[in-house]
Amino acid sequence: MQSALFADDNHNPEQVRLQVLKQQLNEYAFHYYVNNTSLVSDAEYDRLMQELEGIEAAHPEWVTPDSPSQRVAGIPSEGFTKVTHPAPILSLASVTDIAGVQAWYERILKLDERVAQTSFTIEPKIDGLTIVLTYTNGILTLGATRGNGEVGEDITPNIRTIRSVPLQLRQGPDGPLIPANLVVRGEAFISLPDFERLNLRLQEAGERTYLNPRNTASGALRQLDPALTASRPLTWFCYSIVAMSDDAPRPRTQWQTLEWLRAWGFPVSDYSALAHDIHEALSLCEQRLPERDALQFEADGIVIKINEIDIADSLGFVGKDPRGALALKYPAREVTTILDAIRANVGRTGVITPYAELAAVELGGVVVRHATLHNFDFIAEKDIREGDRVLIKRAGDVIPYVIGPVVEARTGKEIPYDIPTDCPSCGAALEHVEGEVAWFCVNTNCPAQLVRHLEHFVSLNAMNIVGMGIKIVEQLVEAGLVKDLADLYRIDKACLFALEGFGDKKAENLVMAIETSKSQPLNRLINALGIRGVGEVMAGDLARHFGSLAALSAASLESLQTIEGVGPNIAQSIVDWFEREENQALLEKLKKYGIDPRNELQTTTGREQPLAGMVFVITGTLPNYSRTEMTELLERNGAKVTGSVSSKTTYLVAGDAAGSKLDKARSLGVPVLEEADVVALVGGNS
Ligand code: IVH
Repeated sequence: MQSALFADDNHNPEQVRLQVLKQQLNEYAFHYYVNNTSLVSDAEYDRLMQELEGIEAAHPEWVTPDSPSQRVAGIPSEGFTKVTHPAPILSLASVTDIAGVQAWYERILKLDERVAQTSFTIEPKIDGLTIVLTYTNGILTLGATRGNGEVGEDITPNIRTIRSVPLQLRQGPDGPLIPANLVVRGEAFISLPDFERLNLRLQEAGERTYLNPRNTASGALRQLDPALTASRPLTWFCYSIVAMSDDAPRPRTQWQTLEWLRAWGFPVSDYSALAHDIHEALSLCEQRLPERDALQFEADGIVIKINEIDIADSLGFVGKDPRGALALKYPAREVTTILDAIRANVGRTGVITPYAELAAVELGGVVVRHATLHNFDFIAEKDIREGDRVLIKRAGDVIPYVIGPVVEARTGKEIPYDIPTDCPSCGAALEHVEGEVAWFCVNTNCPAQLVRHLEHFVSLNAMNIVGMGIKIVEQLVEAGLVKDLADLYRIDKACLFALEGFGDKKAENLVMAIETSKSQPLNRLINALGIRGVGEVMAGDLARHFGSLAALSAASLESLQTIEGVGPNIAQSIVDWFEREENQALLEKLKKYGIDPRNELQTTTGREQPLAGMVFVITGTLPNYSRTEMTELLERNGAKVTGSVSSKTTYLVAGDAAGSKLDKARSLGVPVLEEADVVALVGGNS
C-alpha cells in the first residue's frame, strides 16, 4: 500500500516533507479529538493541511489511506456491501437493579470458583451504534456496522469521516505492540452538547431539527454520501478487541485491553473503572446510578465485566450473551402525561419553535413541565393535539422531547392544533418560506428576539459578559433600558440599581464585566452579532480572513464564498446582515463605545490587507521564497492559499518547473503571477 513512499530509496525532499506533515497532522488530530488538548492553533493546523494537500495534489500517487486529507474522499456509493465479522459481535444480558447484579454473580460463582478471586471493570453502556473497525499493519482498512452480529455492512468511507477514529494507530516506544491484524469494537454516538448545538444551528437556520442523538447518529452512519456523514458531529468510544493476529501478545485483562486501546490512539471512556472485587463493583454501580445526568452522552446503563479474560472466556455463553459480562440498565426515561397546551418560543433569528406545556410528571428524578415539539411539521405529522396523552422522553440533562400521542387514550375532546399566524411576543404576522419547515417573526424590534440576541451576545463564547444571565437581560429589556445590543454599553450602576436584586457590589461587578468585554477579539464580536449561519468557528475564519468589521461589511458574495464552509446561503445571509440599515447603525454605535477590534494579523502589520478575499495557488520552485514562506506572506496579507486550481482561484503563483497546475490555470483563464509580482502586489508588506 505504501509502495510509493518506501519502494523508492531516493527520498526526495517533498516526499519526506509529506511524510512529516502526515505524522504531525495525525498527531495533532489525535491530541485534539481523542485527548481534548490542542497542540497547535487552528490556523497552524489549517496551514499544514493545506501544505499537505498541495503536495498530494501535485503527486496523487503519493496519497495513502492514512493521510489526514483522506477523511472525506470519493463519491457517494450505490449501496453497502456485506462483510462477515471475524468473530461474532455479541450482545449482553441485562438486569434492572443491583439485586440482579448480585444474582448474576452468584450464578457464575457456582459455575467457576475462580470467580471469587476476580476483579471487574465498570463501563458506561453507551446508547449508540456498534461499529467494528479493522486495522491492518496499524492502518484502518475496514469499518463495519454490527448487522446481525455475524454479517455487517461495510461503511468504511463514513467511518473515516469520524475525527476520533484513528486512520493510523500509534506505536509508542515502550507501548504495547500493534498486532498486524487488529479488529476492535466500539460505540459510535453524538454527544449531548454536540446534539444540542447541531439542533440550535438548524433551528436558527430555519431547518428541520433532529429528534434524538441516537437516531441522528444512526442515520449519519448509514448515509451513502460520506460528505453527509462528515457534516454530523459523530464520535465514538472503543471498548473491546474482537480479533487479533495469533502471534501478537494479548492483553490478560479487560482493564489492560482498555489501556492498550488507549495507547494505540483509540478514544476510551474515562468513565471506566476497575473494581477489585464484587463488593467494590456493586458499590461503584450504586454510586453511578444517580450520576447518569452528568454524562455528556446518552447511556442506557452500566456494563460490568469480569476483568480476567481467560476466566470470562471459560464461562461461555447463553445464546449470544457472554456469561462474563452484564448490563445494569438505567430505568427507562419515557413516560406519558397530558399535553395541556402547545405554545411557541421566539428564537434569536425570529424562528418560532413550538413546545408542549405538560401536566407535571416525574421522569428520572426530575419534575417535567415542558417538552420540545421540534417544529410545526412534526406536530402535523404526528397529529399531536392539545389535551392528548403524549409519550415524552428525557436524555441526559437536556430538554425532554415529545415522541408522539397515545392515540388509544383519546376521548374525542382533544383539540387539533393550528399554526399561529402572529408572533407570540410582539404580535407581528409570521412569515414562512415555501418548502422550509420554520416560521419566522421578521419584526426586528420584537422584544423576544432582542432578549435572545442579548443572551447570545453576552454568552461565554461571544462577548463573555460574566454575570449577565437571562433574568437580567429580560429585566433590562422590560425596563426599556436596552433597545439594541450596543445599549448594553450604556449601562451604569444607576441603571442597575433601578432593577430588582441589585446591590452595590453586584452592580459594580457587572459594570466592570461589561467594560472588560469591550476588548474581546474580532472573532468573538462577529460571533456575538448573531448573523444567521455564522457560528463560533466561522466567525474565526471570517475574522482571520477580513481582519476588521469594515472589511467584512464590504465583502462581496464572491469573496465570501472563497472561504471554506461559506456556501451561497451563508454568504447571502452575511451580505444581507450588513446591508440592513439598523445593523450599520448598530456597528456605528458599538464603535462609538470603543468596540471595533482588529484581527491580530491586521494590527501587527498596521495596514489594510490588500489580498483579502483572494484565493491563491502556488506551484513550482520560487526564486527566493519557500512554499511555506510564500503561503505565510499571502495569508498575512489576507489571501487564502489552496492546493488546487479551480474557477475560484484568483491567481496562480508559478515558479520554475511548474507542471499541470500551470496548464490548468491557463485553460481556466486564471492569471499567473511570478514571485516578484506578488511582492509588488503586497507593497512593502513582505
Ligand atoms: S460489551 C461481549 N461494553 O451495548 C461484549 N457493550 O448488548 C458485549 N455497549 O449494542 C458488549 N457500551 O454495543 C459492551 N462498554 C460497553 C458498551 C457496550 C455500549 C452496547 C453494545 C451492544 C449493547 C450490548
